[in-house]
Amino acid sequence: MTYETVEVRKLTGGCGAEILGVDVTAMSNRQWGEIQRAFAEHGVIFFRDQILTPEQHVAFARRWAPIDVNRFFTAVTGYPEIAEVRKEPQEKTNIGGGWHTDHSYDPEPAMGSILLARELPEEGGDTLFANMYRAFETLSPGLQQILEGMKAVHGSAHIFGAKGVNAANPESAGRYGNHHLVGDDVVHPVVIRHPLSGRKALYVNPAFTLRFEDWSAEDSRPLLEHLYRHAARPEFTCRFRWREGSIAFWDNRATWHYAANDYQGERRLMHRITVAGCALQPATA
Ligand code: SIN
Repeated sequence: MTYETVEVRKLTGGCGAEILGVDVTAMSNRQWGEIQRAFAEHGVIFFRDQILTPEQHVAFARRWAPIDVNRFFTAVTGYPEIAEVRKEPQEKTNIGGGWHTDHSYDPEPAMGSILLARELPEEGGDTLFANMYRAFETLSPGLQQILEGMKAVHGSAHIFGAKGVNAANPESAGRYGNHHLVGDDVVHPVVIRHPLSGRKALYVNPAFTLRFEDWSAEDSRPLLEHLYRHAARPEFTCRFRWREGSIAFWDNRATWHYAANDYQGERRLMHRITVAGCALQPATA
């Protein structure tokens, strides 16, 4: 695919592309069209040197879709639409330190998240992404066919609920709240037809997928673990090294992400806005 008004440079063979030659606060209509196209093509796009005010961050997010405020995250003071992703020097755990897909526990999972780097450690704190198109396309045809007929149950109580892992971690107290807003578990196709690209993508993730529909958690575990090992193969991933003012915008329906926790003793502060998606359709629809 060619681009004329922005430069689109793939990060790795597996996932992601950097967009160069654009100021996201002053995009021409042609640039905006090409950036939307790059997002659908690559699943996660990156921008550098975008020193945005919170208002500009919100305005950029609203160009994509209405904002889907994460009900569990602590918001930036004065900006309820912006979630704070913060790790202080004395804290040991981080937010997002395992492969996951944001909001798969919602009936209409968020399209994606726009993460802006505010304060970074000297070294470390990269974010990794994995390509769920490639994960699906590289499975055996027999397994693909079986998975295309399956659904999976997703939930958030074990993470965000009153008895979830965050409630048991004292470092999470300032990061998350609203345990009572955990919703009912939801069901999504295991293989979706991506709403923007039309491609088939694997849609299960280690954080929020509980089991396959009509299967027990115990019966589901071996196949889910096989899919998770496969999907996280280095060939399907990229690793983004942040600088202040860098932005990553990932598509939750096409990628997983993982925040590396390798900067003990330093602060990392990011601002995240999540934008709304839609109900997911099976690949067979
Ligand atoms: C997240 O999982 O939303 C946070 C990712 C990051 O901080 O790199």
